[in-house]
Amino acid sequence: MIAVTGATGNVGRALVDRLLAAGRPVRALTRDPARAALPDGAEVARLRPEDPTALFDGASAVFLYAQAVTAPLLAAARAGGVRHAVLLSSGLVQEGADETHPLHVLHATAERLIRDSGLGWTFLRPNAFAANALRWAPQIRAGNTVWGVYADAVSAPIHEDDIAAVAERVLLDDGHRGAVHRLTGPQAATNAEQVAAIGAALGRELTFVEADPRTAGPELFPYLDPRMLERLLKTFEDTVGVPPEITGTVEEITGRPARTFARWARDHAGDFG
Ligand SMILES: NC(=O)c1ccc[n+]([C@@H]2O[C@H](COP(=O)([O-])OP(=O)(O)OC[C@H]3O[C@@H](n4cnc5c(N)ncnc54)[C@H](OP(=O)(O)O)[C@@H]3O)[C@@H](O)[C@H]2O)c1
Repeated sequence: MIAVTGATGNVGRALVDRLLAAGRPVRALTRDPARAALPDGAEVARLRPEDPTALFDGASAVFLYAQAVTAPLLAAARAGGVRHAVLLSSGLVQEGADETHPLHVLHATAERLIRDSGLGWTFLRPNAFAANALRWAPQIRAGNTVWGVYADAVSAPIHEDDIAAVAERVLLDDGHRGAVHRLTGPQAATNAEQVAAIGAALGRELTFVEADPRTAGPELFPYLDPRMLERLLKTFEDTVGVPPEITGTVEEITGRPARTFARWARDHAGDFG
């Protein structure tokens, strides 16, 4: 049995599908099972962060979102029989990082708690998700003009199912205990190029119009915790003109090349159309 936190999230849901397809029993954890719409094959359990007792009984491994990681939850996992914890961490955790960045604090703290827990562990450190482009979905559903900040901010966006594919291998194969895997997509794409790729997937010509970052508000980032906005804008600014890190880790671990942003846009055309 593999327990999956974040089972309603982009990566967690893809991982649940993969483990079920591989014939593995899955316990999918969510704080709100009634709204989770998880597949029938999964055993769905309510994650009560204040009382994780018995949540992991019978599980041998757990996939963790950093938001779910607490010392009591890890202790419950160990008591329930879990031996291996795979954390969806962040590429922000690296040498020379800004250790005051709230997303660095979140993921570095989760890594430290897991290292201290006595569980075996593997950390996945992805950089920017292709799914971050869903922030443009409300605008793209409404028309062909997309307001956004920093047209030239650049990343190597990673498909959520490529992260899930790596997590699947790390959970099911030997040899990943104590490993840190840095994960990215296969090629660089600016914000403006990502919007153009979504347009190509939809058969529409979308125009990216640059908004002034000094006046950009949460309306441009509908799925973002508003407390993160200021730091995110700074992160975008810092990436303008800077070639992003690109790793071959997805292919090394899964045997298949990481999917391009154009492919992600085709897979998600329904979210924008
Ligand atoms: N977006 C990026 O570019 C990026 C890059 C690197 C790392 N990450 C990390 O990857 C993870 C997923 O990011 P995402 O943006 O794609 O979000 P997402 O998958 O849509 O995240 C939502 C999921 O997080 C779970 N969750 C949220 N708060 C929780 C809490 N306090 N306790 C337990 N579960 C909680 C939710 O569970 P419920 O079903 O209980 O609501 C839901 O399954 C995050 O940890 C994020 O920091 C993201």
